[in-house]
Amino acid sequence: GIYFRFASYINNYMVLQKEPAGAVIWGFGTPGATVVVTLCQGQDIIMKKVTNVKAPSNSWIVVLDPMKAGGPYEVMAQQTLGTMNVTLEVHDVLFGDVWLCSGQSNMQMTVLQVFNATQELSNTAAYQSIRIFSVALRQAGQELEDLDAVDLPWSKPTSENLGHGNFTYMSAVCWLFGRYLYDTLQYPVGLISSSWGGTPIEAWSSGRSLKVCGVLKRRKSMKEECKRDVSWSIPPDSVTGPREHSVLWNAMIHPLQNMTLKGVVWYQGESNMDYNRDLYNCTFPALIEDWRQTFHRGSQGQTERFFPFGFVQLSSYLPVSMSDYGFPEIRWHQTADFGSVPNLMMPGAFMAVAMDLCDRDSPFGSIHPRDKQTVAYRLHLGARAVAYGEKNLTFQGPLPKKIELLTSSGLLNLTYDQQIQVQGQDNIFEISCCSDHQCKWLPSPMNTFSIHILTLDISSCPGTVAALRYAWTTWPCEYKKCPVYHSSSTLPAPPFIAFITDQAPGH
Ligand SMILES: *[C@@H]1O[C@H](CO)[C@@H](O)[C@H](O)[C@H]1NC(C)=O
Ligand SMILES: *[C@@H]1O[C@H](CO)[C@@H](O)[C@H](O)[C@H]1NC(C)=O
Ligand SMILES: *[C@@H]1O[C@H](CO)[C@@H](O)[C@H](O)[C@H]1NC(C)=O
Ligand SMILES: *[C@@H]1O[C@H](CO)[C@@H](O)[C@H](O)[C@H]1NC(C)=O
Ligand SMILES: *[C@@H]1O[C@H](CO)[C@@H](O)[C@H](O)[C@H]1NC(C)=O
Ligand SMILES: *[C@@H]1O[C@H](CO)[C@@H](O)[C@H](O)[C@H]1NC(C)=O
Ligand SMILES: *[C@@H]1O[C@H](CO)[C@@H](O)[C@H](O)[C@H]1NC(C)=O
Repeated sequence: GIYFRFASYINNYMVLQKEPAGAVIWGFGTPGATVVVTLCQGQDIIMKKVTNVKAPSNSWIVVLDPMKAGGPYEVMAQQTLGTMNVTLEVHDVLFGDVWLCSGQSNMQMTVLQVFNATQELSNTAAYQSIRIFSVALRQAGQELEDLDAVDLPWSKPTSENLGHGNFTYMSAVCWLFGRYLYDTLQYPVGLISSSWGGTPIEAWSSGRSLKVCGVLKRRKSMKEECKRDVSWSIPPDSVTGPREHSVLWNAMIHPLQNMTLKGVVWYQGESNMDYNRDLYNCTFPALIEDWRQTFHRGSQGQTERFFPFGFVQLSSYLPVSMSDYGFPEIRWHQTADFGSVPNLMMPGAFMAVAMDLCDRDSPFGSIHPRDKQTVAYRLHLGARAVAYGEKNLTFQGPLPKKIELLTSSGLLNLTYDQQIQVQGQDNIFEISCCSDHQCKWLPSPMNTFSIHILTLDISSCPGTVAALRYAWTTWPCEYKKCPVYHSSSTLPAPPFIAFITDQAPGH
């Protein structure tokens, strides 16, 4: 018969999603057999769920009653059919919040590769209630029902499995994000990393979501052309992965769909700076929507329909070519062209701005900055505000609220929604200056500032000012030295582009 087993990602030391959702336990077995799933704590039976194995999928699935955070528990599954009677058990299971981390190499980078690695790796004893899991790198032409392979089964964190190698496991952003969250939550956190370097968003997207955005199927003949694109744009010391559409969705995400999750964090976009870049403002929101639908349905409605989705806005790097084309556009498109999240297109989203965390000396190439602590810290602030509803928490930097042209004095007043802290740097604000139906970008130096308002000099523009943009380059500033931050939280103002339609003076 078909052998009786749990899904590949149900094993000792796992974290199951806590209340108010119910955790899903599932696996494979012999069609028609009865499966009894029992949750125990020592000698105590906490609950029993009975189901049977369905054909033709040969799978069984139960939803546990919602459980408070804590543990450890044992989960037993017993299959009986006629005289056959097989029992499986996993132990040291905790209930807490389960986060899935995905993306490309900046998500894949391990704790071994970040700044202060030795210190970060030695610091695991206090975090034994955070459990980690890493999906193996696999691609598939069709949606898989279960993971084909696992790099790191559910484990307690150790310096060995957190710093296993370069670009292997465990994801540093994922780990550090979970660790900051744990410091606040003080209950178990489960972290699943499923990421692969050098991969475009299309590889992580289902056919459904690509269709929404009119993304054409990649033709085989384009393969070579795209390979050339890659070598042009990505430093030679970088990692590369599959670029075919949907192959990582199929093998590394879809198999997880039955699991109850708290949310997802995502760090991807570098591989789209020269591939379907202008569609990223559709493909990213579409991926979020599709993952939300899929996980909600797969978990029998237990994973929230609009679960929180956090992401890291691209950091910076030193381009091989002189062209800056790509990064500013992707950063903007990561917000669906709103400049910040959550927004109408991206409800329940949160973002860590990282453009000021550059690292020109990174041994992994400047595209892989080593300060992942700040990335994860900013990300966890977003999670606390958006996913956990913490009130009165500053989780993002200043956002532009109003632009006033003071034409008579050759100035522009930019009002932010927060108190600002400004450090001088020219050429980071630019105005689109138009005359004779021609527009060009000119630097707009900072003149003065007050608590909320930054005054820019626009006197170099003899015509009309049609737009204003901020930090619209691949490498906008040196490490933690962008011009505009929140006055006390050290959160940077995100990059933006704004079109000025009302040319009346003073508006
Ligand atoms: C299966 O075996 C277990 C002991 O391993 C026993 O407690 C249980 O009653 C058996 N179930 C059936 C249906 O035979
Ligand atoms: C999810 O559970 C269903 C049973 O409800 C099963 O058929 C399927 O194989 C499971 N896995 C995936 C990836 O859908
Ligand atoms: C990881 O990369 C660094 C920098 O290139 C190198 O010194 C180190 O030996 C690598 N570690 C492993 C385990 O490959
Ligand atoms: C996405 O960005 C492109 C290029 O900037 C633009 O032409 C398009 O209108 C945008 N689409 C959406 C849905 O915002
Ligand atoms: C590395 O450790 C030093 C000393 O504790 C600290 O000042 C610095 O902020 C740390 N770097 C990062 C990126 O966390
Ligand atoms: C919000 O936090 C600030 C300081 O961070 C504090 O001054 C203020 O009283 C708080 N407001 C509320 C409503 O808690
Ligand atoms: C413009 O901003 C400056 C501070 O940078 C402020 O002193 C001035 O009053 C503002 N002007 C207007 C018209 O709001």
